[in-house]
Amino acid sequence: MRRKLVVGNWKMNGSRVANAELLAALKSASPWDADVAVCAPAPYLGEVALSLQGEFIAWGAQDCSAHESGAFTGEVSAAMLAEFGCKYVIVGHSERRAYHAESDQLVADKAKTALEHRLTPIVCVGETLTEREAGHTDEVVKRQLSAVIHTLGHCIAQVVVAYEPVWAIGTGKTASPEQAQAVHAVLRAQLKAATEHAGDMKILYGGSVKADNAATLFAQADIDGGLIGGASLKASDFDAICRAAH
Ligand code: 13P
Repeated sequence: MRRKLVVGNWKMNGSRVANAELLAALKSASPWDADVAVCAPAPYLGEVALSLQGEFIAWGAQDCSAHESGAFTGEVSAAMLAEFGCKYVIVGHSERRAYHAESDQLVADKAKTALEHRLTPIVCVGETLTEREAGHTDEVVKRQLSAVIHTLGHCIAQVVVAYEPVWAIGTGKTASPEQAQAVHAVLRAQLKAATEHAGDMKILYGGSVKADNAATLFAQADIDGGLIGGASLKASDFDAICRAAH
């Protein structure tokens, strides 16, 4: 039985005061019957680390560089994230793919660099509405995951995969549990062809997960938790989602 994982992706939200209030509320709501983490904007990681040290909640970042170090202005390295105690780093979020033109190979290289620094990459895949309507969903997510499988080899077993249909992110349109499960099953089958550990790997669903739809999504056979955007910014909502995961 895979233990569920719920990860809050704060995106470019928060402030020192707001983060302190949110984390205080989450700490008092914890623990849950699932693993829980929050992925904060990089400038806050030092304070998040101090706040969550020794607590039930892990923390991580929302992106990392594919490079080790050097002349890459504005980028944050996996080594730096590791120094701040990050357990996870999201790579290949659709907002990075869309607004920063990140290719499948760049995402795979980021996942590799993250693993080299003992961070667990949360590799996001997902189709746009146009791709879904054209019947290309499976092909798109398989192409995105395939780049990571080829780059990591047997180490693919160490990543967390997140299926986030682009049309469901921040739109209030959640994939139905059946739609999500169908894609998760495709991804699980692809992982099974790559590693004998596919049955132990976590595949999260993300895209308008809320307190009232989390339980049915998490009840699907291949959905092992969620990657939560908007609802991770409000302690009571995020707590309710974490409670739905067990
Ligand atoms: P929402 O939960 O706001 O739809 O965002 C999902 C997401 O992109 C998490 O990474």
